[in-house]
Amino acid sequence: MTTDLQAGMGVMEAIFQRRSVRQYADRPVDPDTVQKLLTAAVQAPSAMNLQPWVFAVFHGHKLLREYSERAKQHLVATYPTRFDLHSRAELYEDPNYDLFHGADTLIVIYATWGRLHPNEDCCLAAENLLLAAHGLGLGTCPIGYARPWLDLPETKRELGVPEQYQAVFPLVVGYPAGPTAPTPRDEPNIVSWKWEV
Ligand SMILES: Cc1cc2nc3c(=O)[nH]c(=O)nc-3n(C[C@H](O)[C@H](O)[C@H](O)COP(=O)(O)O)c2cc1C
Repeated sequence: MTTDLQAGMGVMEAIFQRRSVRQYADRPVDPDTVQKLLTAAVQAPSAMNLQPWVFAVFHGHKLLREYSERAKQHLVATYPTRFDLHSRAELYEDPNYDLFHGADTLIVIYATWGRLHPNEDCCLAAENLLLAAHGLGLGTCPIGYARPWLDLPETKRELGVPEQYQAVFPLVVGYPAGPTAPTPRDEPNIVSWKWEV
């Protein structure tokens, strides 16, 4: 597994080429590949090496379409008091809109406990996973809008996730249907730089 990852593209290449993929090919992701991605995720740094993360994997188009519908319904029901959905409200009311962009695999990273910086740790694990997936020829997309529904106590109960765990970073994985155009980035905005020589 390590060899596979080492034989892949360089880190800078992966960082600069990774894009959020929103169109997926009809090619299933296999469990071994998901396992590789999770193993890459847990190589992330974490405060005091507490590794305050757990993962849930949900695979299958039918399952994800169902979760998408329920997550959208939750968004619409809680709009607008809890979430700023003005620009996307129409989409969430459209039964044809798939929150998971047609991917067949959803991975959710949950923070297990509150000491130190569990959310930051989980986000670092997520970035590792996104880059590793890109290195393995897979596409990914973070799905922040699924988080409110995933974090409901009743959803966690149903999905077999302990209620005290906090849904931090949902993301989908799949084989990209084609190339994804790059999204622009601003130059780093450096507000202070003191460099003593
Ligand atoms: C925390 C977080 C939540 C996101 N949630 C969504 C989402 O719900 N749906 C979606 O299509 N993209 C989502 N994205 C992807 C961003 O739109 C995307 O990363 C950004 O536009 C930059 O594009 P790139 O990832 O292709 O570089 C999310 C990204 C982050 C970091």
